[in-house]
This record gives sequence, C-alpha cells and structure tokens, in this order.
Amino acid sequence: MTFKTTKTQNSHFDSINWDDLRFGVYFSDHMFVANYKNGKWDDGEIMPFSNIEISPAMCTLHYAQACFEGLKAFRSEKGGANLFRPEKNAARLNFSSERLCIPQIDVNFQVEAMKELVKFDNKFIPQKHGQSLYIRPFVFGSSNFLGVQASQEYKYIIITSPVASYYAGGLAPVKILVTDEYVRAVRGGLGNTKAAANYAASLYGGMQARKMGFSQVLWLDGVNLEFVDEVGAMNIMFVIDNEIITPSLDQGSILPGITRMSVLELAGDLGIKATERKISLKEVIDAHKSGHLTECFGTGTAAVISPVGQLTYKGEDMIINNNQIGPVAQKLYDTITGIQYGKLEDKKGWTLNFNF
Ligand SMILES: Cc1ncc(COP(=O)(O)O)c(C=O)c1O
Repeated sequence: MTFKTTKTQNSHFDSINWDDLRFGVYFSDHMFVANYKNGKWDDGEIMPFSNIEISPAMCTLHYAQACFEGLKAFRSEKGGANLFRPEKNAARLNFSSERLCIPQIDVNFQVEAMKELVKFDNKFIPQKHGQSLYIRPFVFGSSNFLGVQASQEYKYIIITSPVASYYAGGLAPVKILVTDEYVRAVRGGLGNTKAAANYAASLYGGMQARKMGFSQVLWLDGVNLEFVDEVGAMNIMFVIDNEIITPSLDQGSILPGITRMSVLELAGDLGIKATERKISLKEVIDAHKSGHLTECFGTGTAAVISPVGQLTYKGEDMIINNNQIGPVAQKLYDTITGIQYGKLEDKKGWTLNFNF
C-alpha cells in the first residue's frame, strides 16, 4: 500500500532531549490522517504533524465518541524495526469502534498506515535498548452538532512519540491501591473497549490514589466490588501455588490486553500453568495470608510486565514477594522484550519486521 506523503519543512528532531524522553512528551515529525465522509474512508495520507482545527460544536468534545490504541515500534537487533502484534491492536480498535458506533477500518489498512508512518519517521525510533517509538492510533467523530447521536464524519489519526524505557533502573515493583469507592467499568458498559471515556472515568480515583502515595488503582468489579478487574492501564495477574491466575474477560468490564494474551500464550511454552477465571479479592487476601500468593504483576504495552510489590485494601498492606520482582515476572519480561527487540527468535511470528 502506498500513501500520499508530504514532508515537513520544519523538523523538530533536534529539539528532542534523547536522554530525558519520558512518555508522550515528544512527537515525531509526521502523522497519518484518514477521513470518513459520505459513508466511506478516504485513502489516508502522511503529512506534517500539526494542530487540527475543530469547531466548538464538534460532537466528540461533548459526547466522547472516541477510542484509541497504543503499541510500540522497537529497533530490532536483527536490523530495521519491529512492531509487536499490530494486527491485534487494529482489530481491537475496530472492536472498540463498533461499541461506539464508529465505522470499521480495514485491519491491513491500519497496519500498513502504522508501518509506513514509522518507516517515514524512522529516525525518531530511539537507539537505546528499552526505549521505543510509541504509536498512538485514534479515531473520533468529527461532525459538528449538538444532540446525542453518532457522528456522520470521522477522523482516524496516527501520531508517534519516542519514549523512554519504562524502567530506568531495573524492574521496580509498584504500590497499588485497591479501591472500593470508585469503579471504572460495569457489566454491559465500555470496560472492554479502549474508549477515551474509560480513561476519564478512571482519573478521579487515580488522582486520589496518587495523593496517598500509590502509583495506580486496582479496580474491582463494578457490580459487587468483589472480584478483581484490572489496573488503570494494565491487566493484573497473580501467581498462586505456581499457577498464573488472571481475571477472565467474560463480564466485558476488562480490556483484552495484547500483553495479557501474549503472556497466556507464552506461559505454557515456559512450563507455567496459566488460568483465566474470576478471582475474588478475598481469595487474593487469603492466598497472601497463607503464603500461597508468591507474585503479582501487571501486563501492558507501557511496562510489558510491572511487578506489584504492595496491594493496599481498606488500610491493610499486603507486601508481595518482599517487594521484589519474582521469577515468573522476570522470565515473562525477558522473553517478551527479547522478542520485541529481536534478541530472541520470534517462534510465534508475533513481530512485523521491516527495514527503512
Ligand atoms: C485499561 C487497560 N487495561 C489493560 C491494558 C493493557 O493492554 P495492552 O497489553 O494491549 O497494552 C491497557 C493498555 O493498553 C489499558 O489501558
């Protein structure tokens, strides 16, 4: 697939502080934009990254008809760049879109658009191991009207951002607050989509947790506040009696994470039993008390594997594995990042490798 491309006249490459990239602060020179009008998507094009003009009546500002994706391009040790399972992100964008009455976008078209944009801005893929080029595709209603109904017109945009390694000094365990005050999603709601609105719903609880010194919130099910759902931007896994247990997706309140899916597929190969099922907070607390809970970690694109060193519920702290990363989390992290950076053989065909 070839897209129309317009090169920027004002590269801001030299203004990037490569030693202090952080997350989502710097953006590459170009973006991909496709428009939906009169019932169809146009061919899309790569153009200079720039502001977009919007009307104060643009429906998404009022009714949040928007969803997004997040994945990374890695400089491969074998040459070129790797995207990790990009077709899964493209399919998930369509899944989110369907729930939000946003028109579907062909998966191959999305993957090609991401690939061509990364190729075009390949100098923005950071050089150091652990760093990457974060890819943010998003789609939103762009018609101008008031009234709760689906937009007639849409924009699909991809921007990219060079980002630092999530772990500056090794895999540091995080402290997480289990909240029974707020919920993120309910059965039949938007929880299993990457709707922008889900993140708005999570802000207040997240802010309260940070004020108390926690890095994130562990959300419980929105119906009974009994079962574990997920963390702010990660799925959650527990190791109990040498078995990985992660909440199942059947209630529709949890995002089907691509890292989660990859861990479940890899675990068997690594000789670790992994099970998806409902898990109550009580079961986690009891397993911790009896010494059977040996590890807890989050899974997600940002951190890949994020060990949880402490869970706090109703003022009670559970310190897990002495606040150290455990062997299961370490093995999964090494394996997935090894595949992403082309250090390990990609036996599962998960990476899309390309040269530039
Ligand atoms: C709410 C939520 N859960 C889980 C995840 C992890 O998903 P993935 O592994 O696809 O990044 C994310 C990040 O995308 C998220 O925002």
